[in-house]
Amino acid sequence: MKKVLIALGLVSIAISGSAMADLALAKKSGCMACHSVDKKIVGPSWKEVAAKYKDDADARAKLAVKIKKGGKGVWGSAPMPPYSPRVSDANIEKLVDFIMTL
Ligand code: HEC
Repeated sequence: MKKVLIALGLVSIAISGSAMADLALAKKSGCMACHSVDKKIVGPSWKEVAAKYKDDADARAKLAVKIKKGGKGVWGSAPMPPYSPRVSDANIEKLVDFIMTL
């Protein structure tokens, strides 16, 4: 029993560790100037984004394109700036995966 609990503890540390790494990546990429996990700033909160697209099978691809190329009109008239090639495609995919788990 004790071993199981220790194993579970390690799994949860591993999960929150990776979420923290993703948040650090978002900060480093400049996203947090306009976004927060749970509050609207200039852009929508990422929890709202995750909720809006949770049943959309194409969401990951659409959001990756939006982050790469920028755009506006889904949440209002403020534009989301383009991030490609400033942020690599691999990191953009990591950010999308992170946002969709919120
Ligand atoms: C200058 C401010 C700003 C910065 C910096 C910014 N965003 Fe945004 N973001 C916005 C705005 C404004 C919207 C809403 C656009 C719309 O209504 O279509 C948005 C929308 C989004 C959406 C939802 C897109 C949709 O079509 O529903 C995602 C996901 C997102 N941003 C991720 C990111 C990521 C990841 C970064 C960093 C690489 C980032 N944003 C940096 C302003 C910003």
